[in-house]
Amino acid sequence: MARARRGGVGWRAVLAAALWLLLVAAEAGKYNAVFNFGDSLVDAGNLVTEGIPDYLATARPPYGQSYFRHPTGRCSDGRLVIDFIAQEFGLPLLPPSKAKNAPLFAGKDLREAYNLMPHVVQGISDGVEQLIAEGAKDLIVPGVMPSGCFPVYLSMYVDAKEGYGQRSGCLKRFNTFSWVHNAMLKGALEKLRAKHPGVRIVYGDYFTPVIQFLLQPEKFGFHKQPPRACCGAAGKGPYNFNLTAKCGEPGATACADPKTHWSWDGIHLTEAAYGHIAKGWLHGEFADQPIIQSS
Ligand SMILES: *[C@@H]1O[C@H](CO)[C@@H](O)[C@H](O)[C@H]1NC(C)=O
Repeated sequence: MARARRGGVGWRAVLAAALWLLLVAAEAGKYNAVFNFGDSLVDAGNLVTEGIPDYLATARPPYGQSYFRHPTGRCSDGRLVIDFIAQEFGLPLLPPSKAKNAPLFAGKDLREAYNLMPHVVQGISDGVEQLIAEGAKDLIVPGVMPSGCFPVYLSMYVDAKEGYGQRSGCLKRFNTFSWVHNAMLKGALEKLRAKHPGVRIVYGDYFTPVIQFLLQPEKFGFHKQPPRACCGAAGKGPYNFNLTAKCGEPGATACADPKTHWSWDGIHLTEAAYGHIAKGWLHGEFADQPIIQSS
């Protein structure tokens, strides 16, 4: 493998958020930069798109309250997975990306979304190949979250009783969709690994942790309850999500302790949840190999 050079530095990459972050290394195992090529596709807002202009409400309190003490444009009460990863390597935090949710699913039903799935996965795969062509050596490619567990979908769609997971209370058809996407993505990553043996490609699992947040909440310090947004207003069902009073809008309030909830605003996760996920990626519990390699 030819190692690409940029200013005399070999490139290492980490990929996140449907498209990616990237770490530049001065020496093996040492990173000196993180790049995020992501959009918020993985933030489970992927089927919503319309009606949720992230950047408007997220510029207002209580967004950012837990860590930064002011809104930073991050769709959470604090740090995101990439922030925790950057901090782990002693790197500065990136400004949040202003990317909106991918418009791919706008106004489309699940059947159409299934038809698009191979193209979405191909797009991610092409993106990975481009970064490898640029010299990326370490990449994290994240899957998607179980969107059927998100308050936004749970309050928008009402299915028959059999349509919900017995223990999780999640909408099965949306979780199946996310699961199939992740399976297809993992298949694509296997092909990329075979094609680029000199590159490390880590699959970042967002699906398993969110399911665990629901089924074993005590393990993470979360309340045992149906999927419920910390920040929002009463709406249909027990989800504390109301499209006309979303977090950051008049009428919405945040729970007293966001550390007890995994869902921040019904669409995005809390800093606490992102912290657990980042730890699982770094040490391997929620990744197919740990980002941090023992050397
Ligand atoms: C959602 O919020 C609106 C505006 O505050 C309110 O009028 C409506 O009753 C709420 N919906 C439910 C189901 O509580």
